[in-house]
Amino acid sequence: MTGIAGRDLYDDPRFFEGYRRLRTSGTALNDAIEVPAMARLLPPVAGLSVVDLGCGTGALARRLADEGAADVLAVDASERMLVSAEKHPRVRYLRADLETLTLPPGCADLVVSSLALHYVADYPALIRSVAGWLRPGGGFLFSQEHPICTARRPMTGWLETGNGTVWPVDDYAAEGPRTQNWIVEGVMKHHRRTATLINALLGAGLELTGIDEPGPALDSPELAEHLRRPPILLLAAVRPP
Ligand SMILES: C[S@@+](CC[C@H](N)C(=O)[O-])C[C@H]1O[C@@H](n2cnc3c(N)ncnc32)[C@H](O)[C@@H]1O
Repeated sequence: MTGIAGRDLYDDPRFFEGYRRLRTSGTALNDAIEVPAMARLLPPVAGLSVVDLGCGTGALARRLADEGAADVLAVDASERMLVSAEKHPRVRYLRADLETLTLPPGCADLVVSSLALHYVADYPALIRSVAGWLRPGGGFLFSQEHPICTARRPMTGWLETGNGTVWPVDDYAAEGPRTQNWIVEGVMKHHRRTATLINALLGAGLELTGIDEPGPALDSPELAEHLRRPPILLLAAVRPP
């Protein structure tokens, strides 16, 4: 399947400009749904060494540093995203591909990732790496597009039935790459079942500590469609002490 891989997507000038406009429009689900949901599952971060996978322009990394994290390594493949990231004395930005990233064993008290792992082709390999980067007792928290949203081939969004719209869930068990026309044509993401996402954590020796499928507040008419199916999934895990 051909398409633009996540590691290249955010350096495409047309995509980058469209994504920047989306993020400042107030209609993106990030600030309204994802950020508060991550905050609910995050442990206290004071004094922790944190790694942020797919940090984008670094908002989460800087927030964790402001909350007292000792240091945050914020990793992203996109030069444009990293150039747009504000500096912070306790955040170090690293341009790297998550699929080949190597870090010292046991270097992190906490690994986080916001809306990036659906771009990663070999999720089990990355999770094994994360488990190795965590010190015993360390935590892992990530959000990604919900498998209900990534399932259909190609990913099409709401379907007009003549009697209103429905969200089509299809091809659910057929895990693998998907393409989606989102800002530009042929954006490539990777669909995995919820069970696969969880089982890879357990298979890497982590313990599941949290799960969420957050939606918008009931009084947010502009985001009401996200009450009809879950837009994102959050999973939290810990490396046993
Ligand atoms: C939807 S953005 C999220 C950015 C940020 N975490 C946030 O929540 O604002 C996804 C990010 O993942 C990065 N990304 C996608 N695939 C990647 C890969 N293979 N390696 C490193 N970063 C990747 C993109 O460059 C982009 O910055």
